[in-house]
Amino acid sequence: MEQSTGPVQGNPLREGIATRTVPESCTIVIFGATGDLTHRKLVPALYNIAADGELPPNLAVVGFARRPKSDDEFRKELEEAARKYSRQTVNDDLWNGFARSVFYHQSEFADAEGYKRLAERLEKIEQERATEGNRLFYFAAAPDQFAPILKDLAAAGLHKPRDGAWARVIVEKPFGTDLASARELNRVVNAAFPEEATYRIDHFLGKETAQNILVLRFANAIFEPLWNTRYIDHVQITAAETLGVEGRAGYYEGAGALRDMVQNHLLQLLCLVGMEPPTDLGADSIRDEKVKIVRALRRFSASDVATNVVRGQYADGALSGKPVPAYCAEKNVNPKSKTETFVALKLLIDNWRWADVPIYMRVGKRLPKSGTEISVHFKKAPSVLFNKESQALDQNVLVIRIQPDEGISLRMQAKMPGTSLRIEPVKMDFHYGTSFGKASPEAYERLLLDAMSGDATLFARRDEVEQAWEFIDRIEDAWKQDDAPALWEYPAGSWGPEEADELLVRDGRSWRRL
Ligand code: BG6
Repeated sequence: MEQSTGPVQGNPLREGIATRTVPESCTIVIFGATGDLTHRKLVPALYNIAADGELPPNLAVVGFARRPKSDDEFRKELEEAARKYSRQTVNDDLWNGFARSVFYHQSEFADAEGYKRLAERLEKIEQERATEGNRLFYFAAAPDQFAPILKDLAAAGLHKPRDGAWARVIVEKPFGTDLASARELNRVVNAAFPEEATYRIDHFLGKETAQNILVLRFANAIFEPLWNTRYIDHVQITAAETLGVEGRAGYYEGAGALRDMVQNHLLQLLCLVGMEPPTDLGADSIRDEKVKIVRALRRFSASDVATNVVRGQYADGALSGKPVPAYCAEKNVNPKSKTETFVALKLLIDNWRWADVPIYMRVGKRLPKSGTEISVHFKKAPSVLFNKESQALDQNVLVIRIQPDEGISLRMQAKMPGTSLRIEPVKMDFHYGTSFGKASPEAYERLLLDAMSGDATLFARRDEVEQAWEFIDRIEDAWKQDDAPALWEYPAGSWGPEEADELLVRDGRSWRRL
């Protein structure tokens, strides 16, 4: 069992300059406690926080779901999940200690009585576990249950913070399916919980390397002066997955790659890359700057969608030599489905920093490799010194690898050893794993800790979500028209339709190879 040993003395890399708000004792109530998210992500994350010694002094976890089950049965199920999905090996003693703070509450989501019983049960648990009356409600249920849950939660008075304590809500994605539904959900959520108590999850923001974007940009003096249209030629953001729809057709059929990944995760990454320096590190100072980027995204007309957005769906193909079926042949997918599993876009940010710098994004399932990265391609050096050489100079490229093999690399030109002047690109490479000798926590660990600490910086604010939908809706609308741009097929195991390559080739560029 890898147990936390605390900061290693004398290793400045591990100590660094630390700031963290302290998680407070609380009870976490998880709605949808028997679902996939709770098993795969939430409980393993809580266990790992416990193993790292970072839990608040007192914690209770109450799973709320429909199926009848005893506390012990629930604990047993969660233990199996933790053993399967935890990033650290599960230690029996530590698990048993943690499991004692886990409880199960059976109720339908739309049963007012169930919430009254929950209120009574919470009082009791809070006394036993000394969690100080703080409550964190986690909505991990299907999105169509959010409104009924909120209604009964509020009717039972559970949304109100008790004396000297707090009540917060974490809302999982998808946060709406378009601007209208997101606005409605915001209205319903904010009718019960004020915005400062509302934590909208975008798990990409919890990823270590996503957080490092701000550190890279603003804690180093050398990048910021170059971070603009004068020196940057273009930016690419790729989120590639080898996985297919993996039994999630029920959700994915109605979502597609644009809503599933671009509206939230990719636009959030873009905001971190594109935002102005915030005046301080307060949650709202950072989010004020982020939302300006989404606002400044040039809006597409229907004809812009046809020229700047490419959508695709995987057909039969092969991955690592093994045949894989087409999207339309996957379980619970309509054989005539028009849902996109790939999308590539060319965006422009209309502000002084980014004027005329194209941002190319692509995201897809069943691509040859899994990896998420951002690459910043700088303009070429003027060939005043080396123009007598026949070879063209490469661009400097700064690559931020979000996952896997988290790290940052910088490509530059160097003289190859030898008597002639031969210039070759070389790479300076930083890998988290080797530099810090420490595994990064899972995104959910950081996000749960932040919510328990009252730090909303890494959660999406109401206006960010709405602005993002406003941008995405224009593309979705264009795709619904009779003369909508084509949905291209691509073989599973390829890098998407050729039209996605064309998007860059016509600008004299190409996608970076992952
Ligand atoms: C989820 C999407 O939000 O993010 C999935 O719904 C996608 O379709 C997943 O697979 C990717 O996240 P990660 O952390 O596995 O890269």
